[in-house]
Amino acid sequence: MGSNAVADSGDASDPAPYRALTRAAGARHVEVIDQRALPDRVLAVRLDDAEMAAEAIRAMWVRGAPLIGAVGAYGFALALDRDPSDAGMERAHARLDATRPTAINLRWALDRVRAAVAPLAPSGRADRAWAEADRIRDEDVAINHAIGAHGLAIVEAIAARRPGPVNVMTHCNAGALATCGWGTATAPVFAAHARGVPVHVWVSETRPRLQGANLTAWEMAQRGVPHTLFVDGASGHLLRREGIDLVLVGTDRVARNGDVCNKIGTYDKALAAHDNGVAVYVGLPSPTLDASLPHGDAIPIESRAADEVLGVWGRAEGGGTTRAAIAPEGTRAVNPAFDVTPARLVTGLITERGVTRASAEGLAALFPERYR
Ligand code: MRU
Repeated sequence: MGSNAVADSGDASDPAPYRALTRAAGARHVEVIDQRALPDRVLAVRLDDAEMAAEAIRAMWVRGAPLIGAVGAYGFALALDRDPSDAGMERAHARLDATRPTAINLRWALDRVRAAVAPLAPSGRADRAWAEADRIRDEDVAINHAIGAHGLAIVEAIAARRPGPVNVMTHCNAGALATCGWGTATAPVFAAHARGVPVHVWVSETRPRLQGANLTAWEMAQRGVPHTLFVDGASGHLLRREGIDLVLVGTDRVARNGDVCNKIGTYDKALAAHDNGVAVYVGLPSPTLDASLPHGDAIPIESRAADEVLGVWGRAEGGGTTRAAIAPEGTRAVNPAFDVTPARLVTGLITERGVTRASAEGLAALFPERYR
């Protein structure tokens, strides 16, 4: 089941030395990187059934909005391999959908697979689901490349204004590990680095699960992108004093009006950026746009276990991971996993169709079919 194999991207022009998710041609299973083992080990895990896929999403072996959408789609195909009946289909949709509530990509992918297979006789449903999941994966790779190209223009424009690296602050992990390709917020950075445009990435550790420290710092190191890690509480200070050129983050759901839901702590960065005249850009793949919700306050915010706040996980002496408690026994803790940044604090949304304002008008201009 587990191995230390790195899932190769298989694309010589792609500097990503790994893929978060792979499906060998014709295989009736997928392999994912178990992200809980990073940065120590690249551990490939095979998902053999829908229950494993659901657990992988719930327990965050895989995470990141586009990636959990794709894993959800493959989980649906795995479920239909076992039970393609109407009842089996509805059960699988409900089970996978219940794993995580905030990133809309999961519901979007499950709805898309169900819409593709429901009209078919049960005997044809599983094959169709595998094909649809492959499409979702391949589209995500293409979306990542397009976001990279559009975002590159922003980075290059800053680089052209003055010598020295472009200083990009990011939060959480919106990299290759959050998607099927290059990532969303990281795609412009990787594109710039590949072109020789000097960039320096300021990586926020992202308490409590440390996706910045464990995953984004690892991804930057894998590609040789200069980067500096900082504690979340240093964001305001760095935005005031360190010459940060832009904040560039991903998103788990964008509402109709352009409000951006992303990893907890994004709002604080946007406020501090606004106060210091620093631009805030968001890598937004279109499946993450939820035009059915009028504004960000309607987005369900995942509330996670208090023990994530009350302790830290780290490398154990002699290998493996270990947890240390950091608060007095019995301390009450709250753990909202996401926050909402109002559209007015967002300079622009970098989508696969171009860069637009964070507003209903801006989004409708690029995605008219979603605003009818
Ligand atoms: O809780 P996670 O790790 O699944 O959160 C998702 C994220 O990594 C971020 O919020 C990210 O910016 C959006 S996914 C590209």
